Amino acid sequence: MTSEELHAVGVGRRPADAAVSARANRRWWDHDADSYHAEHGTFLGTSDFVWCPERLREADARLLGEVAGKRVLEVGCGSAMCSRWLAGQGALPVAFDVSGGMLRHARAGAEQSGVAVPLVQADAQQLPFATDTLALASTAFGAVPFVADSARVMREVARVLRPGSRWVFSASHPIRWIFPDDPGPDGLTASIPYFDRTPYVEFDADGEPTYVEHHRTIGDRVREIVGAGFRLVDLVEPEWPADLTDTWGQWSPLRGALLPGTAIYVCELD
Ligand SMILES: C[S@@+](CC[C@H](N)C(=O)[O-])C[C@H]1O[C@@H](n2cnc3c(N)ncnc32)[C@H](O)[C@@H]1O
Repeated sequence: MTSEELHAVGVGRRPADAAVSARANRRWWDHDADSYHAEHGTFLGTSDFVWCPERLREADARLLGEVAGKRVLEVGCGSAMCSRWLAGQGALPVAFDVSGGMLRHARAGAEQSGVAVPLVQADAQQLPFATDTLALASTAFGAVPFVADSARVMREVARVLRPGSRWVFSASHPIRWIFPDDPGPDGLTASIPYFDRTPYVEFDADGEPTYVEHHRTIGDRVREIVGAGFRLVDLVEPEWPADLTDTWGQWSPLRGALLPGTAIYVCELD
């Protein structure tokens, strides 16, 4: 599904509160689930854990530490291929997503791979899990950029994790916010203020948002992480591999050679 099929007629920076963001994004991901997997399914695989378009794999990076025997929460899991990889490593994952369309692909992935993990439909801002019950949490580009109150997501993840647990999440690198979302040369000219947190919104003819993305500066994100009780252990900025010629949306070899595209936050609860 493209924005045309959702009848988006415009793009801009507009306020979008929690309810507006939630409505737009659930609708977007439900509609986009099929085309997202048609376009990126081969890259994502059915049981692989890839952090970002730069193709950093958890099998190589080991940002989660030891996973065997641990109850792991995958936030904004999409088709849950990361959870199936974790299950293959001896972890006990539970995967959740706000979108029924994405979870349909998670069930299809389970059938295809023969590896089923528990799936839950939930919003990352209000987790239906008990306090202090999980040992690890992660997401590759899930939930965090799409919610109006990402500090609340950090607090919710902190609540369900036991002391000493890790929370590792990847998202677009905040520096990308200042450039147009274009993989080509037009995506190299800074034109949007880094300090403008007004959300990116696509909207239909009635002005109804069809897609919303929220920006946080690096400082904002660190304050959210620390404010929820985590320590920031590492901030990984994967480099574009010299032999990677594929483009993924606004990520391309051209831009990857010049700019970071992804930030991976490695956090730990005391
Ligand atoms: C870019 S996709 C990433 C999915 C998967 N991790 C992957 O790498 O393909 C973003 C995912 O976040 C989910 N999402 C967006 N807002 C959410 C929320 N508030 N709570 C839970 N999941 C959310 C979307 O439904 C979508 O599946």
